[in-house]
Amino acid sequence: AAIEKGGYDHFMLKEIFEQPHTIFDCLRGRLDATNGTITMSGIQQYAEQLTQAKRIIIVACGTSWHAGLVAEYIFEEVTRIPVEVEYASEFRYRNPVVGEGDVIIAISQSGETADTLVAIESAKEKGAIILGVVNVVGSSIARTSHGGAYTHAGPEIGVASTKAFTGQLAVLTMMALKIGHLKGTLSEKRYTHLLNELNDVPEKVALALEQKDHIEALALKYKDATDALYLGRGYNFPVALEGALKLKEISYIHAEGYPAAEMKHGPIALVDDKLPVFFVATKDSFHEKVLSNMQEIKARKGKVIAIVSEGDDAANALADDLITVPFADELIAPMINAIPMQLLAYYIGVAKGYDVDKPRNLAKSVTVE
Ligand code: G6P
Repeated sequence: AAIEKGGYDHFMLKEIFEQPHTIFDCLRGRLDATNGTITMSGIQQYAEQLTQAKRIIIVACGTSWHAGLVAEYIFEEVTRIPVEVEYASEFRYRNPVVGEGDVIIAISQSGETADTLVAIESAKEKGAIILGVVNVVGSSIARTSHGGAYTHAGPEIGVASTKAFTGQLAVLTMMALKIGHLKGTLSEKRYTHLLNELNDVPEKVALALEQKDHIEALALKYKDATDALYLGRGYNFPVALEGALKLKEISYIHAEGYPAAEMKHGPIALVDDKLPVFFVATKDSFHEKVLSNMQEIKARKGKVIAIVSEGDDAANALADDLITVPFADELIAPMINAIPMQLLAYYIGVAKGYDVDKPRNLAKSVTVE
């Protein structure tokens, strides 16, 4: 087993550290930043339906659903197609309005999640086009889909998803850029810029991983918290949700992810001098707003831990602790910002003595409803 873990203590840690390679593998053969092309045969064959789609519906569960939320922001910005993100378990049972002309994107690491599978089967019968973003080759969801793309993250053993998540984001970003470029809703200049940014992700993820020891020290500092809040805005809002989910799954600390501004409408009541509040506050178009939300937490004596872009010291005076990550375009940043969230949850879980690879009550893939 030690050999399988490649010298790491747990599969989860090994898989977190594999991400520079898994993301590279996902981009390889598809993204060509030098020539400005994205090649995805499973998308290109539906180019017409995609560029003409009136809307896109994303269905998924768990971490894959969070990847879907990031994709909603990306697709709407670059393709101007309205996107809805649905929990597969809700979508399948409420007699959803879906039919010809609709494009459904199903996101699933395992490709076997029962709710996601049934949701796409019934949408397929009603005439929708189904594109799968799946990790396991030949899985049920991959076979049921008309097209789509594999994430190529390799087998994920740790129950809490890590490298599959960043692989999903890489695939979904390429899909959105491809469609936006074909449609002409994405300027040539921004398209080229984003291709280059995407190309740099493996390297930036590797740099983010270098924060490991610092994050482990923070984990020891905050491990005895009973609750935690994760806040972010825009592209970083789903990253906050995923951060909270990771912490819950691995360390059994109650955590909530919230849009930083919406925090005023409830969670702010929880803030006291014991509550750690993790801000995903990298530099983006929401930065000033996020800083003022940070101020609101600080004023109520919450403990602020801010994930910030390297070289940005705007949060220094407000945060009790900082985690720096390489700067990336806001559309690309979730793939990098997810890294400290994963490491933090991992080290807290380990510090508490839990079985991080097999958290209680959770299954790697939920094949029953
Ligand atoms: C389970 C796993 C999660 C995963 C979710 C969806 O709950 O524990 O890590 O995100 O299922 O799984 P899928 O294979 O469809 O992505």
